[in-house]
Amino acid sequence: MKHHLQCIECSKKFKPTQIYTCPECGDLLQISYDYTSLGRKFRESLSTPGRLSVWRYHNILPVSINNAVSIGEGGTGLSESSRLAQRLGMSEVYFKNDGQNPTGSFKDRGMTVAITRAVEIGAKKVLCASTGNTSASMAAYAAKAGLKAFVLIPKGKIAMGKLLQAVVHGAKITQVDGNFDEALERARKMASGRSGLYLVNSLNPYRIEGQKTLAFEVWEQLERKVPDVVFVPVGNAGNISAIWKGFQELRRLKLVRRAPRMIGVQASGAAPLADAYAKGLEKVIPWPNPETIASAIRIGAPASWKKALRAVRESEGAIIRASDEEITMAQRLLANQEGIFAEPASAASVAGLVKAKKSRLVKSHETVVCVITGHGLKDQKAAASFAGL
Ligand code: F0G
Repeated sequence: MKHHLQCIECSKKFKPTQIYTCPECGDLLQISYDYTSLGRKFRESLSTPGRLSVWRYHNILPVSINNAVSIGEGGTGLSESSRLAQRLGMSEVYFKNDGQNPTGSFKDRGMTVAITRAVEIGAKKVLCASTGNTSASMAAYAAKAGLKAFVLIPKGKIAMGKLLQAVVHGAKITQVDGNFDEALERARKMASGRSGLYLVNSLNPYRIEGQKTLAFEVWEQLERKVPDVVFVPVGNAGNISAIWKGFQELRRLKLVRRAPRMIGVQASGAAPLADAYAKGLEKVIPWPNPETIASAIRIGAPASWKKALRAVRESEGAIIRASDEEITMAQRLLANQEGIFAEPASAASVAGLVKAKKSRLVKSHETVVCVITGHGLKDQKAAASFAGL
């Protein structure tokens, strides 16, 4: 689909070449379309009967469906809570279970689009830094497309299940002495100016386009209603920005009149965004040594912080924090009472809901969706400890 890259700060538009940040001011880019001409096409694709998937929305994606590198992403379940909702005294709570994606996390939504883009621009190699899930996903899609995959991970800091996924899908793995933020910095430097090597971290705006489809699916699954509030675990802050973009596009295309409040949830030990939000700061101050059991969101310098702060401010939402204990409790509750096995980072959305209900950030009658971002089997060590094994 015809599109531009537009800087989120200076608003300058650029042709879609292989750039990751604004050549003028260095800020993040996002993909923009001509929404007037797209409206009709998008409505057409929604009125066609068919199952939910990322590619159902190809009319509002920046790559061609004819080139799609796909292994069945999206179309994940939205299950209504029975017990947690009752316990919290709420009428409608749903779990959007993105752990049901092919590699077990929401990353597949973004990766199918990013790897398709890599193929379209003729890249032969793809690269990412990761706390685990991005690397597992990238490795699988690169394998499907026949591309070489290179992964930078913080040494000893990622869950074994995710590392194994990257290994079995054939990625070349480099362990970096340092945390995720340092690994990402290195990946950005490696990719800079190299046209054959494509960086697929979420600062790549094509990733965001795939991930925004979660909003479209939720809207369809709720019979074309938007929820009042969406809870999203936040690490590098790409996903909350993506989901917000999806809801904004529904509004822009006049398919809905309002958008939900976005509530991001960070782990207390890795909460630079929650900090900035609580203090009303315009900028995020990076945390040098983030620490949490939720290794997927152990991030101190979120690349998409500006997009995320805008998402919560524009939507009148918030960014809150949950302690490791609260996250573990939520993980247990999801498994024991709702039948969903989520990894710790994924349970952060539910931990956030429990807190937000107590502090009256959400009301009993509101429709709430908690995004469950990744499957619990990926991090068996964390699960074993909460199960007392
Ligand atoms: N939940 C899970 C399971 C994740 O793996 C991540 C991020 C997030 C939530 C947070 O999403 O970064 O878009 O705010 N994982 C990345 C990775 C950083 O490398 O796998 P975000």
